[in-house]
Amino acid sequence: MNISKICVLGAGLMGNGITQVCAQAGYQVAMRDIEQRFVDSGMNAIRKNLANNVKKGKKTQEEMDAVLSRIKPTLDLKEAAADADVVVEVVIEIMDVKKQVFKELDAIVPDHCLYFSNTSGLSLTEMAAATKRPDKFIGTHFFNPVPVMKLLEIIKGYETSDETLQIALDWGKKIGKECIVVNEAPAFVVNRVLCTMLNEAFFALGEGLASAEDIDKGMVLGCNHPIGPLALADLVGLETLLHVIEGLHKELGDKYRPAPMLVQLVRAGRYGRKTGKGVFDYTAK
Ligand code: CAA
Repeated sequence: MNISKICVLGAGLMGNGITQVCAQAGYQVAMRDIEQRFVDSGMNAIRKNLANNVKKGKKTQEEMDAVLSRIKPTLDLKEAAADADVVVEVVIEIMDVKKQVFKELDAIVPDHCLYFSNTSGLSLTEMAAATKRPDKFIGTHFFNPVPVMKLLEIIKGYETSDETLQIALDWGKKIGKECIVVNEAPAFVVNRVLCTMLNEAFFALGEGLASAEDIDKGMVLGCNHPIGPLALADLVGLETLLHVIEGLHKELGDKYRPAPMLVQLVRAGRYGRKTGKGVFDYTAK
C-alpha cells in the first residue's frame, strides 16, 4: 500500500511532533484537534522547531516552508480523515474517548485506511475490537520530543495483520525512526520499564529521601541518564505518567502502585512543563 495522506488526530505535544516528522518525510498531513487554540498551539510548536532547525543550519528556509505547506491544520474530522491512507490517533488517554473517535472514523475513512494509535499503554486489542478493521489497527508509540527521539515502538494487537505490521515498519523507517516490535502487554516495553522508574523517583521524593534536585542529580551523574527522572516526568506530563502507572497497577498488581506524591501533584494541576509547573517550576525560566 502506498501512503500519501496522513491524518493526525491531536495537535498536542505528541500530535504536533508526529505531524512534523510526517510532513518532513514528504507526506501530506491533516492535523486535527477539537479546539482552535489547540490547533494554533500545535502549529506554533512546529513553526518554532523548524525555525530552530533553520537557525542552526539544519534546514533551509525553503525546506521549512515546504514542510509547513504539507500540513493542513483543521477542526473538521471529516475533512481531515475522508481521504486518509493512515489515521494516527493521539487523543487523550481515556479508552472510551478513543473508542468513540474510532467509531466516528469508521464512518468516514476509505476502506483501505489503517489506524495507528500512539497510546502510551492502553490495550490496542480493545481499541481495535471497537472498530470495523481490527486487522488494520496497530500501535505506533512515539517518544517525547518526537522530532529528536529515535525510537518508534510498534505494538501488535491480537488481530493486527502481518501486512499492517510491515506497512507500519516501512512508514517508521521513512519518517526517520528506528523501530522495535512489541507484542501487546500493559505499557508495552519502554514505558513499563521507564514509568516504573519515574514512579519510584516520586516515592523517593514523597518519603523525603532527598530533594528533587538531588534525586535527579543522582540519576544523571550516577547512571549517565541525559535528564533526571523528575525533570523527565515534567517533560512527559505528570498526568500522562499517572495514566500509564494506573494502567500497570490495574493490570499487573500492587508492584505498580502510583506514588502518592505523583497523585497529589496531578490533583494540584501541576502537570509539568506544559502547565508551567510540575515537580519543578518553569514559570520564571
Ligand atoms: N522539541 C524539538 N526539539 C527539541 C526539544 C523539543 N521539545 N527539546 C530539545 N530539542 C532538540 C534541541 O533543539 C537540540 O537540537 P540540536 O541537536 O539540533 O541542537 C537537541 O534536542 C538537544 O537539546 P538541548 O541541547 O537543548 O538539550 P538536551 O541536550 O538537554 O536535550 C532532550 C534535551 C533531548 C530532551 C534530552 O534531555 C533527553 O534526551 N531527555 C530524555 C528524553 C526522554 O527520555 N524521552 C522519552 C520520554 S517517555 C515518552 O515520551 C513516552 C511516553 O509515553 C511517556
